[in-house]
Amino acid sequence: MPAPVLSLLGLMLATLAFASQAEVPDAAELYAPCAACHGASAEGNVALRAPRLNHLRPVYILAQLDKFQRGLRGGADATLAAQQMAASTGLLPPAERLPDLAIYISELESGPSASTLATGDEAAGGRTFMRLCGACHGANAGGNVALNAPRLAGADDWYLLDQLHAFREGQRGRHREDRTGRQMRNMAAMLDDEQALQDVIAYIRSQAE
Ligand code: HEC
Ligand code: HEC
Repeated sequence: MPAPVLSLLGLMLATLAFASQAEVPDAAELYAPCAACHGASAEGNVALRAPRLNHLRPVYILAQLDKFQRGLRGGADATLAAQQMAASTGLLPPAERLPDLAIYISELESGPSASTLATGDEAAGGRTFMRLCGACHGANAGGNVALNAPRLAGADDWYLLDQLHAFREGQRGRHREDRTGRQMRNMAAMLDDEQALQDVIAYIRSQAE
């Protein structure tokens, strides 16, 4: 194992040992092992491919954790990043504490994440977004709880790109029980080329969180 991975593991184990000493761990303690990858404020860590989480609503966070736990996301056909997250579900608290953890994450704050992509065409991306994405994710990319469509505004640009690729290439949203993932997979297939992806991401990034 490379040294950074080893030290990360050590950090997680230390945090876990600490958490288990407390009688009833508070939400911050429940989040501590996640911070090793996602950051202290859930601001994300591009080097680890661990995305920002604090722009997401608790209901979506819970739904994704459930998918990772049940192998609907992060299975054998998934990206390495998704498999790493699936493996990290062992760090999650018992089911009855998951809502506390999800609410805690959604209440953390951080500034806009740094741009990592060469600029796409925001205006062209906006037209595509209105045509193909806004009906579910909202015109301002704020998400729609009733449709299970997450907020996209505030997400890391590299993560949006990774996920659109993963959906298009059948690495996410393939499991037959992953109903909402399959919906999104069909939509990602409609973005015909790399430029269309970059443009739509430029539009999403222009929207306030
Ligand atoms: C070893 C690093 C690592 C640890 C530890 C980790 N994660 Fe992750 N997490 C990731 C990566 C990488 C992804 C991106 C998966 C992908 O690309 O599909 C991710 C994705 C997620 C997502 C999905 C976000 C979205 O927009 O769909 C949630 C929610 C999440 N993690 C929550 C947690 C929680 C809660 C913990 C603590 C129990 C945790 N993670 C611990 C690496 C990690
Ligand atoms: C039919 C409704 C629908 C449409 C239209 C739609 N999406 Fe989605 N999208 C979803 C749902 C539902 C999810 C959550 C998938 C899951 O539960 O894994 C999602 C998830 C995503 C994610 C992953 C976010 C994350 O945090 O992991 C991205 C990125 C995304 N959509 C982008 C787009 C873009 C860009 C378009 C337009 C090309 C689009 N979506 C159109 C329903 C839709």
